[in-house]
Amino acid sequence: MQNSFNIDALVRENIRNLKPYRSARDDFEKGLLLDANENSLGAPVRNSLQLHRYPTTTHNSLRKKIAAWRGVDFENIFLGVGSDEPIDLLMRIFCNPLKDTIITTPPTYGMYRVSANINNVGVKEVLLNDKFQLQTEKILEAADDSTKLLFLCSPNNPTSNDLKRTDMLRLIAAFPGIVVVDEAYIDFSRQESMASMVQQYPNLVVLQTFSKSFGLAGIRLGIAIAGPDIIHYMLKVKAPYNINKLTADIALQAFDNMELIKFNLNKIREERDYVAEQLRHSDVIDVVYPSNANFLLFKIHNAEEVYRNLAEQGVIVRYRGNEPLCENCLRVTIGMPDENIRFLKTLKEVLP
Ligand SMILES: Cc1ncc(COP(=O)(O)O)c(C=O)c1O
Repeated sequence: MQNSFNIDALVRENIRNLKPYRSARDDFEKGLLLDANENSLGAPVRNSLQLHRYPTTTHNSLRKKIAAWRGVDFENIFLGVGSDEPIDLLMRIFCNPLKDTIITTPPTYGMYRVSANINNVGVKEVLLNDKFQLQTEKILEAADDSTKLLFLCSPNNPTSNDLKRTDMLRLIAAFPGIVVVDEAYIDFSRQESMASMVQQYPNLVVLQTFSKSFGLAGIRLGIAIAGPDIIHYMLKVKAPYNINKLTADIALQAFDNMELIKFNLNKIREERDYVAEQLRHSDVIDVVYPSNANFLLFKIHNAEEVYRNLAEQGVIVRYRGNEPLCENCLRVTIGMPDENIRFLKTLKEVLP
């Protein structure tokens, strides 16, 4: 399929023909700037970022930093408002409402379905198997001419495991549409990112985010890594100034603190393994699933009641028991060491 990949055949006709919005700043960045109806008298707060001016539409210096960090070219990088924006843009670029479909592999991140619902796009579900791995042949059987996107999540939320790389590669090679690999939690895993594979596979999009390993959920910065054809369409469809100056500035500063980011990553991994070990010692916990992310999924008797009891004590975890294959499961994020101890202690106290 890779030799015959034709992105224009997959893209919606109105997007193919779209004349994108052009900002005057696409042509001129310096001079007497009287082109954008900004307030030339300045912002009412002290800041060196010239906040009375619109941000750049491209953020090339940030894209270059991210590209170097991930070992791809800067033309492979798209920046979005969280990962949720690229998810929505991919729906809008490729899926005709009321006609096209996507495939998801539950139990998985809920936003793929929500975004499809918002865009009036059908969702086909091919469950993971009982080891929380992909049923590759079933996925390929489920795909037809209307199936434009396949969402894979590795490490997967809420199951916390890596999907097998060989399965993902098989799907990327054989799926007749775009394969999106959501790597929100990749830095907590020992498995290698799929990012560099975008050089080889023009139908692959890898999603990453500053919300998890970088500890910057509040700045809302997500990344889509893909070949130039897909990036071209994402840039064409995005709102011109989607990434604001404060976000870009903080993200650039984060790259000066990579040592701290790596230190914290190791700390979270250590804490995760400690909490998992403690949970495994409890007789009322049936399974603690192996985790390559910054959270744990575990199966416990009367999970919904335990969830409510924990919440009453001010300890908020996520009840995942309504997800397929996750009966009686709770998901807990790894916190600070004292928070983890409080969670473990409260859990013991509230068990029915
Ligand atoms: C698998 C997965 N992808 C994406 C996101 C959202 O990331 P962002 O904060 O970049 O929108 C989450 C958030 O929990 C997630 O679990």
